[in-house]
Parts: sequence; C-alpha cells; structure tokens
Amino acid sequence: MTVAAEPAPKFELQPYKSLSNDELHGRIQRVRDELGPQLLILGHHYQQDEVIALADLSGDSYQLSQMAADSADCRMIAFCGVHFMAETADILANRPEKLAQRNGERVRVVLPDMAAGCSMADMAAIHQIEDAWDQLGEVIDTEDVTPVTYINSAASLKAFVGRHGGIVCTSSNARAALEWAFARTKRVMFFPDQHLGRNTSLEMGIPLDEMPAWDPYAEDLGGSTAEQLQASRVILWKGHCSVHQMFKPEHVAMFRQQHPGIKILVHPECPREVFELADEYGSTGRIIKAVEAAPPGTKWAIGTELHLVNRLKAQHPEQEIHFLSPVVCMCATMYRIDLPHLAWSLENLAAGTPVNTIDVDEETAKWSLVALERMLEVK
Ligand code: 13P
Ligand code: SF4
Repeated sequence: MTVAAEPAPKFELQPYKSLSNDELHGRIQRVRDELGPQLLILGHHYQQDEVIALADLSGDSYQLSQMAADSADCRMIAFCGVHFMAETADILANRPEKLAQRNGERVRVVLPDMAAGCSMADMAAIHQIEDAWDQLGEVIDTEDVTPVTYINSAASLKAFVGRHGGIVCTSSNARAALEWAFARTKRVMFFPDQHLGRNTSLEMGIPLDEMPAWDPYAEDLGGSTAEQLQASRVILWKGHCSVHQMFKPEHVAMFRQQHPGIKILVHPECPREVFELADEYGSTGRIIKAVEAAPPGTKWAIGTELHLVNRLKAQHPEQEIHFLSPVVCMCATMYRIDLPHLAWSLENLAAGTPVNTIDVDEETAKWSLVALERMLEVK
C-alpha cells in the first residue's frame, strides 16, 4: 500500500556495505551539496551518531512531523527513522495546501531501509482495530468513544482515527490529546501503546480500574467483561515498546542506592512501575532539554534508547549520565538506518532512480491528515 512503483535502481546496495564510514560520509555529503535545499535529511534522536551528523534536522516524533509539515523548499526527504515516521512525513509534506503551493509537485519521501519498522506499531493491525471497535459497539455506544492513536502506528490506523473523530498524539502531547478527546466524549480508546496511555491517564487522575487493556488475541471483548468496559474511561490497547519495557523498578532501586541524589528520567513508553518511580519524564526532545537545562554535576539515570543516552553522555561531560539498565536496550529497527543504506538511497535519489519511496495512498492520507492536523494543533 505504501510502496511506490519505481524504475530499476542505478546502484545496487551490496557494494556500499564494504565502503568505509569516511568514504560513505563523503559520498553522502556530495549528494547533499549537489541537491542543496531540495533535499532534507531528517533524523530521529535514536539514530546512530554518524547518521545524526549528516542530518539537516533532528528531533522527536512531534518535532519531525512539524519539520516535514513546514518543509518549504525541499522536494525530497530522506527519513532517518522508522516506517511510521516516514509515512507521516509523506502525508504532511504532500497535504493538499502544500501540493497547491508547489503546483502539484510532490515531495518524495524515502526510508533508507524498508526494514526499519517499529515493533510497537506492528502490534496493532487495522483489521484488529476494526474488529475491536465492532466488538465494543456491542456493549457500549462507540459514538461516545474517541479513538486516540499514538503516532507510532501505521497510516491506516491514523486514517481510522480521522474517520471516527479522533486524534493522533506523540509522547510530547499525549496529555493534551487526551484532554482534547475528553472534551468531546466520555471515553477514549488509546492504541497501540498501553504504557503511554496508562501513564498519561494516571497523571490525569484516572484510576487504574477504569482503564482495562484490550488484548487483541483474547477470545471475546479483548479479555474484559462488558461491565468492565462499561465502567471504563480509557480502553488501552495491549501493545508496548520492546525497548522501553526492558527498564525495571529494580534498576531504579539499584541506581538510587549506588548514586545518592541521582535523578531518574524516563520516556513515557516505560512500564508504569518504572514511570511512577521516576523524578522526570518526557519525549526524547524533552529528555534532551532536561539534561541541557541541568547544572554541572547533576546525576542522571535515563530510561530511553541507548544511542540517545550515549550521545547525551558524550555531549555533557559536566554531568554524570547513566543508562537506566544493566542490559542493552536499543531500537534494532532504528539501527537499520546506517551509512551504507543512506548513501545508497541518496545516490539513487540524485540519479533519478529513487529506492524505498514511501507513498501513502490518497484515501488513507486524506483521513490520516485529519487526525494529524489535530495533533499539530494540540500541544
Ligand atoms: P519520541 O516521540 O519521544 O521521539 O519517541 C519516539 C519513539 O519511538 C520512542 O520510542
Ligand atoms: Fe518503536 Fe520502541 Fe523503536 Fe520507538 S523505540 S521506534 S516504539 S520499537
């Protein structure tokens, strides 16, 4: 659905894999010089340092969406992130008002490696969401439920949400998005990340027993009773991030014991048991800001993806920064975007034989945009 028909690529991927990082860096830089402002390389904060070094702009999911939405001069975006982010960039950069300003010319969005997906986004397929919605309709009035999807979801889910009066959120505006939803309806259905949904709802004072988790593999009603669903305020989808669920309460206890005065800073995708013990939390963008704003000597244990924590450690030697786990928690799919894939996709782009174009179909893009525009308005 989201892969465009493309001519045969001028360059094959394999030879790039044996080039040195210096050679690859130089080749990517040459394409950047040649294409100038027509090309925008966007990088999510979880990308490897060598990729971030070549990005024109980097940010969290919300900031990257804004950058794609604002893109004025660019005609091509190389998205160094994961699939749902590139889909979002395609929808926002090619929305009708932007197309009209460019006389119909589309921004081509490429994802250097199509295998860069998100395991959390894969935990909610559109047929499962539609099935859940139909089942819910048997026990509650779905007119009184606003669907809210975390941006970490396929465009088809965003379109579902757009069609049903809902909104997309990111980790930086989840609370505002839930408030938006509760101003409209009594209940919310939140997918696919149960932890972001639960942590945010708890912060808003919603009790745990009013937020059942819908298990798409349960036989009936997502594993809840009709009464539980009727008493619910938020119906959570039973999805999670395999990276962030590796952080455990015992890691927090260990750091507090070994480093008195340490501050625990986590991403809201962490499980509730960890989130509740943290001193501060926020999106990747907010995590960076919190560290930047802290005085020298501040001690942190940070619970988010390894590459970002290691970068913060290198950039802030005046602070003491630890990774909040003794085991490696890295996003293996983000890591698929490397210099060989970036050089390969950019040289093909410059040669007029683009590879890995992300092209969301018109109908899906139209409805996704409805929900994404609400997300951009709610901060
Ligand atoms: P941010 O919105 O904080 O960038 O998070 C994206 C993500 O995938 C975190 O796992
Ligand atoms: Fe998906 Fe988790 Fe990777 Fe973020 S860190 S892209 S939620 S798998």
